[in-house]
Parts: sequence; structure tokens; C-alpha cells
Amino acid sequence: MPGDKSISHRALMFGALAVGETVVDGLLEGEDVLATAAAMRALGAEVRREEAGGPEGRPRWRVWGRGVGGLVEPADVLDMGNSGTSARLLMGLLATHPMTSVMTGDGSLRKRPMKRVTEPLSLFGADFWYREGGRLPLAVKGTGEAVPVSYATPVASAQVKSAVLLAGLNAPGKTTVTEAVATRDHTERMLTHFGATVTVETDGAARVVTLTGQPELVAAPVVVPGDPSSAAFPVVAALITPDSHLIVRNVGTNPLRFGLYETLKEMGADLILRNERVEGGEPVADLEVRGTGLTGIDVPAERAASMIDEYPILAVAAACASGTTRMNGLAELRVKESDRLTAMAEGLAACGAVVRIEGDDLIVEGTGTAPRGGATVPVELDHRIAMSFLVLGMATEQPVAVDDAAAIDTSFPGFARLMNGLGASIHPLTETAAP
Ligand code: S3P
Repeated sequence: MPGDKSISHRALMFGALAVGETVVDGLLEGEDVLATAAAMRALGAEVRREEAGGPEGRPRWRVWGRGVGGLVEPADVLDMGNSGTSARLLMGLLATHPMTSVMTGDGSLRKRPMKRVTEPLSLFGADFWYREGGRLPLAVKGTGEAVPVSYATPVASAQVKSAVLLAGLNAPGKTTVTEAVATRDHTERMLTHFGATVTVETDGAARVVTLTGQPELVAAPVVVPGDPSSAAFPVVAALITPDSHLIVRNVGTNPLRFGLYETLKEMGADLILRNERVEGGEPVADLEVRGTGLTGIDVPAERAASMIDEYPILAVAAACASGTTRMNGLAELRVKESDRLTAMAEGLAACGAVVRIEGDDLIVEGTGTAPRGGATVPVELDHRIAMSFLVLGMATEQPVAVDDAAAIDTSFPGFARLMNGLGASIHPLTETAAP
């Protein structure tokens, strides 16, 4: 599996803030992470790639950091491409450096809401200018006299939590983020790995994360585990393709990322974790899966944070299952790389599935066999929409096309090659063959 996207971003950012050389193995070399690498270079860190410097001849990345508070003003606009994580986490860093930066992104990122981070970051003393509705391009004037902040996040978002914690790195005293529902904790884990003091208190589902500001971050090696959000595509492909048997090696199993796999098990998936271990502070396992049929279930809203990126592929699994799957509480899906709630409902309906949206819930009526397929689905610059519908095409009678596969490279370079190696037939449509 390609390296975990969330962990890869953080390895480069924290390496850029640490003193010394951070060595990163298994980094995801997708466009989103490369946007973060370019931004960290523009902010004065040295970031290098060695073609075959890592284990088994794989690439190794090295980052020489500037120390907390040591980033320099970028001479040009920072282009975050398609990557919400790069944009929002970086805004946290920029907010507490005394300099002015301008940030933009592609057509998808320029539609996404940024006030969810600029509002808490203003509390540190930073100023922001942005387009209507808090959209990119955006300018930030960071403060050199930050005050620490206590913030309760109104949305369940690891990006918001992380942006506040990263701003807090260069503020004296304690910065606290309270989240009503636990979101992925890679920031907390990796900051601790780099020597920061981070405490976490839990109160039922809620978590209070406290960071002591202005630590000396010390370079530390990072081994990036395989991305459970990427593994979801071959795993669901195996589950909806009768008689499949697949082992996916080296998948991160952090419980705050693992909701999809719990859900698939509840749907009756034959899914076994093998060789469970801890690597670089993150739990990892090999996943063994067999295609034996799935049954629809009710997916509780409380689980959404632990599988937020996996609903598109879960909706595909649901369309091939028997019975009704109800996915509750998906408001956040509307503000991802595309409006994923609408994209999945419309794309599945075009492929012949019975599906509806009720409020923020997505309901898919499975018949026990895959829908007929035969549609071309608009991707709207969203990698996970593209990959989900290509996986659906493995089970449908008629092929499924997507109108643009380029976005897949943001998170899963080599996706079509890997899936074709598993028996899929994914190929570009020639102009004459296009519907
Ligand atoms: C991410 C957090 C999630 C997720 C995104 C990666 C992160 O976003 O959708 O792909 O690395 O922190 P939200 O925080 O907006 O839920």
C-alpha cells in the first residue's frame, strides 16, 4: 500500500520544524504530499528525496528543519493543489510566524471552507484576508507575539485540531483543543515522537488535547505505514468480487482510522487482521479478505470521524450488498474534495442502484447483486470518487467510466496498475471509444 497520506504530510511539516535531520521511509509520493514538500522548501526547510535510499531500494526522504518559529517568509504564492490537509495545517504554522504568506489551490480546494481554521487561528493574533465565504486564495499575516489559545472545535475535524496545535507550537504556554468526538490523532502522536509535551484527557467520546508551546522539536525517524484509506479500495474490490482472496500488507490500523473495517465486519465481511505490530508509534497489520457477500447495516453517526474518507467506497460496498445500508450523519462529506454525498448518490443512481439522501444521511438499497453499471461518472477533481466508481466497475455487468482519472494521483499513484494486477481492467478510454 502507498504510505499514509495524513502521516506523510505531518512527517514533512514536523521535520521542517525540528532541529536536525529527519529521515522518512515509506512517504506517500502523491501530489498532495508533494505539495506539502514544496511548501516546506518555500518556507526554508531542506527537503530531499533519495531514489533508492530506503529499505528494499525504496525512496527515502530527508528533511533538515529550522526549529520551532524558524520558518522564513515564502517569496511566492504557496500552491497547495488539491490538498486540504496541506492548506489547513500549514495555515496553523503560518499563523504564529511574523510574516505574510499567500496561499492558493486547485479548483476543488478553492471551493472549500477555510473559516473553520482562520477563526481559531485569529485568536492567536494572526490576520487573514480571503475570498467570499472564507475561500482560497487567502493571505495570512502571522503574529510574532502569539498568545496560547483554548479552543473547542465545533466540527469533528483533525485538520482543525491540528491547525490549532501547530499554531500553538510557537505560542508560549499551553494551547488546548477540545473535541466532542475523537478524530485521527497522528498530530498528537508525532509531536510527542519529536519531543513535544502533549497530554490527552478523555471524557466519554470527548478529548481534551493540551500542547506545551515553544518546545524544542528534535529530528526523529519516521516510518510511514500503509494508508488504511487507500487499502479500502482493493479490500472492497475483493469483497464485492465473488471468490476473491486478497492479502493487503502493511496497513495502518490506528483505531481512529479504522471505522470502515469495523463496519465491513458488521456487514459480514470475511476480514482478518494478521501480523499485528507497532511501527514508528502507529499500529500496523496485514489484512486478509475473502469475497463472500455483504449485508446492509445502519452505520452510526458517531463512527463518521473514524472513517470520514471511506464513505464513497462504503457506498459502493453497500450497493453490492443485500438489504439496506443507512450511513448516518454525513454533513462533513459535503465539504471534502467534492460534495461526496451528492456525488455518490448521483453516480450510484446513474449506475442503476437505488439510493437516496435524507438530511445528512445516505441510504443505499442493496439487492445482493451489483447494480448494472454502464454510466460515466463525473469526478469533480475528487480522487476518492474516481477510485470508488472504478472499483464498482469490477462487479457491475456493464463497465463504469469516470470522466477524469488524473485526481487519483493525489493520494494513490499507481492505482490502476495495482488494481489491474488484481484482475481489474482499468484503462483510458480512447476518443473513439468514449461514450
Ligand atoms: C485529515 C483529516 C480529515 C480527512 C483528510 C485528512 C488529516 O479531514 O478527511 O483526508 O490528515 O488530518 P477533516 O479534518 O476535514 O475531517
